[in-house]
Amino acid sequence: MGTPQSGIFAIGTQVHLHLEFDIVGNSDFDFSKLNECRLLANTLSGVNIVIGLGKSLLNLVPKQYRPLIFEDFETIKGIEGLVVPKCQHDLWIWLHGGRDDALFDLARKLNKVISQYFTLAHENRGFQYHSSQDLTKFEDGSENPPLDEAIFEATLRGIQGDGGSIALLQKWKHDLDKFENQTNSEQELVFGRTLIGSVELDESAIAKDSHIKRVVISNLEGEELEIFRRSAAFGGLVDHGLMFLAFSADQGRLNRMLKRMLGLEDGISDRLMRFSEAVQSAYYFAPPIEAFG
Ligand code: HEM
Repeated sequence: MGTPQSGIFAIGTQVHLHLEFDIVGNSDFDFSKLNECRLLANTLSGVNIVIGLGKSLLNLVPKQYRPLIFEDFETIKGIEGLVVPKCQHDLWIWLHGGRDDALFDLARKLNKVISQYFTLAHENRGFQYHSSQDLTKFEDGSENPPLDEAIFEATLRGIQGDGGSIALLQKWKHDLDKFENQTNSEQELVFGRTLIGSVELDESAIAKDSHIKRVVISNLEGEELEIFRRSAAFGGLVDHGLMFLAFSADQGRLNRMLKRMLGLEDGISDRLMRFSEAVQSAYYFAPPIEAFG
């Protein structure tokens, strides 16, 4: 059985750094370099590391640790002109911990290990906003599965790729002024939960286009299909929003949630998309640690 990368489940960290890289053409990249990067994140560094690969690099992973079903992100065009554009890269390294300085030092060290093979495409920072809230002030993560369950929802089990996990990484830019121009009740309808206490609204009060009505999905037996979210707020005065990050054993769940948000399943789009726009989206496969050799 493969062992999931522990950083996926290390919760409560205050600062996040998402590095995305593209491989330099024809590079004879030595996969063991990624293990060198992983080992830099030791206890003394105080940083958790998760490494994910786009489809272009999956052939470097030993076959038994490769997922059978995994695709790079493709642009999704929804109703009402909604678009979630693809912004796929080859390698993603997620560092998170308690301090920005620790992340900075580790990022520089690991960049030295891989910089001859990769160019940096994006460097996105994130921070925990108050008690795990989105910048809209709504609690984000209330319905996340508890860790004991999350490990089963988020990692492949008993099939090829066992112990690995599929990650969706997206940068959502918020129009906070527009969001805040609403009354509290209107804001609550966007998510389908209360601002204080994050209680799900009564079924009679909830709107069909509320976020939770778009992203709660079930299988044919009516069982809810969950994902494990590890998002963080990002930004400053001008550009700000959510670095959305979610893990699943099943890429189909993530795709289906996105399609429902864009109105492609039943012609209803997510009200949240009136206030936030996805400007970067990519899928990565985070192999189990045995894959790194
Ligand atoms: C602007 C981007 C987003 C924001 C601000 C946002 C925020 C939220 C908030 C505030 C909640 C309610 C509290 C909670 O259970 O965590 C929530 C729930 C949830 N979101 Fe999002 N979200 C965003 C994008 C997404 C995307 C892209 C997906 C899926 C691909 C997603 C999947 C979910 C799921 C599965 C739930 C739990 C629903 C439930 O079981 O009640 N979210 N989100």
